[in-house]
Amino acid sequence: MLLASALETELTAPNGTRWTQPLGLFIDNEFVTIPGEGDITTVNPYTEEDICSVSAAGPAGVDRAVAAARRALSDPSWKQLSGTERGHLMTRLAALVEDNLDTLAAIETLDNGKPLSVSRSWDVPHFSEVLRYYAGFADKNPGQVVDVGPSKMAYTLKQPVGVCAQIIPWNYPLAMAAWKLGPALCCGNTVVLKLAEQTPLSMLYVARLIREAGFPPGVVNVINGSGAVAGAALASHDDVNKVAFTGSTATGKQVMRMAAGNLKAITLETGGKSPLVVFDDADMDQAVRWAHEGVMANQGQVCTATSRLLVQDGVYDDFVARFKAYTARTSVLGDPFDEATYQGPQVSDAQRRRVQSYIASARDSGVAVFQPEAGAVPWRGFFVPPTVFADVDASSSVFREEIFGPCATVSRFGSEEEALAVCNASRYGLAGAVFTRDLARAHRMARDMEAGMVWVNSSNDSDVRVPFGGVKESGLGRELGEEGLRGYYNVKAVHVNLTG
Ligand code: NAI
Ligand code: MG
Repeated sequence: MLLASALETELTAPNGTRWTQPLGLFIDNEFVTIPGEGDITTVNPYTEEDICSVSAAGPAGVDRAVAAARRALSDPSWKQLSGTERGHLMTRLAALVEDNLDTLAAIETLDNGKPLSVSRSWDVPHFSEVLRYYAGFADKNPGQVVDVGPSKMAYTLKQPVGVCAQIIPWNYPLAMAAWKLGPALCCGNTVVLKLAEQTPLSMLYVARLIREAGFPPGVVNVINGSGAVAGAALASHDDVNKVAFTGSTATGKQVMRMAAGNLKAITLETGGKSPLVVFDDADMDQAVRWAHEGVMANQGQVCTATSRLLVQDGVYDDFVARFKAYTARTSVLGDPFDEATYQGPQVSDAQRRRVQSYIASARDSGVAVFQPEAGAVPWRGFFVPPTVFADVDASSSVFREEIFGPCATVSRFGSEEEALAVCNASRYGLAGAVFTRDLARAHRMARDMEAGMVWVNSSNDSDVRVPFGGVKESGLGRELGEEGLRGYYNVKAVHVNLTG
């Protein structure tokens, strides 16, 4: 075991924010490292330089974290708490995160590359918003008394699922952690949270706040480690009761297979290729604004990105011209610590290359590629300029596959039936958006789109109080809203005989 002093380092962000960064595995409320299990180096996507290395968990680290979570699950310090008391702990954590807004926003931006203005106004406050929302449910999630007549009484208890393995991606490190932790803690579970290799820093910092908030040891354990080693060890671990995963569909399928060993409960939030449909009668300014935000925000690294724009014949040319002009004006690339920046670098060189390979394949197959900011890409950083593929047909790979970058396809359609058929001809079913002034058509489309979420006259306007998730190969189960609790409790039935 290394000395505790080696498990933290002093970091300074380009805006002068300084903090002590924990580097260990957070197990049983302590930062530890497991000798021989290695570490992971995280990179600043804007400077392309290493920031620091954090401890990685191998099989021994995972075992230790799971054992801590298992112990905590039945320890009276957690098990005997009322929902109200769990809610208080969560509320305290939400407040501590708020107190650390400047530091956490700087960490998120340094590690992920997203603009500081966004980390400050959205990612960090959203963590607290989600924790508070689920803290509110912690004492408002009772079982039922079931009336079965006078000779018997029956009631249900909502009990924790148990030890939850939660595997999160790098596009919203804090937000994805909150979506997982909120409902799990609300329902009295214990957690091993595995962070993404690219963005380990913000949640390690929050781990310290979890201890400060007063959570008993082992209730929340936060580890890093590669997906293939730590992720796989968690997903297949016999002492884990539930796995919750957000990431690619391909990895989600592997996780599901691994979870089958002991029939873990499972929720998955995976990929998407969501359509955004603009009808002739739409408010064009509104459609252009949301279409841009819906695919270009967060460097296009959004599972619900509405990346397939389907535009009706009558407004197609007008829409494409306006969309390109709006993108050229709005998608300002630059230093994520600069207030003027709308789009920072992609999270990693691997992601940049992946997105660029889609752009190259589109060019090779003759798709028209428009990159308004191509001349203004910063000289360093993993940047991809915002890219619009026009007149794309449904057979093209950029139309069918998730690119996860600032890339939109635009395609033409004639009738509503045709638009709907194209929307639904996808293995994905995460989200969809429709722009029209015709109320009946808006609701028809909302009903018939094969998607977990539909936006009418907006896009990616998610809300903590509203369920989030997909159908088809976009996932299983829901996060957020009251629905988000379902994956985190088992219903037990109790039958009480009232006769002699
Ligand atoms: P990924 O799905 O492989 O990684 C997500 C998380 O899963 C990370 O914590 C990773 O360590 C873990 N993981 C990886 N392999 C695992 C395994 N065998 N067992 C258990 N856990 C494992 O995604 P990656 O490679 O970072 O990105 C590739 C593509 O995935 C992106 O281009 C994008 O299309 C998609 N993606 C989708 C996200 C979403 O929000 N739906 C988020 C991140 C990526
Ligand atoms: Mg990083």
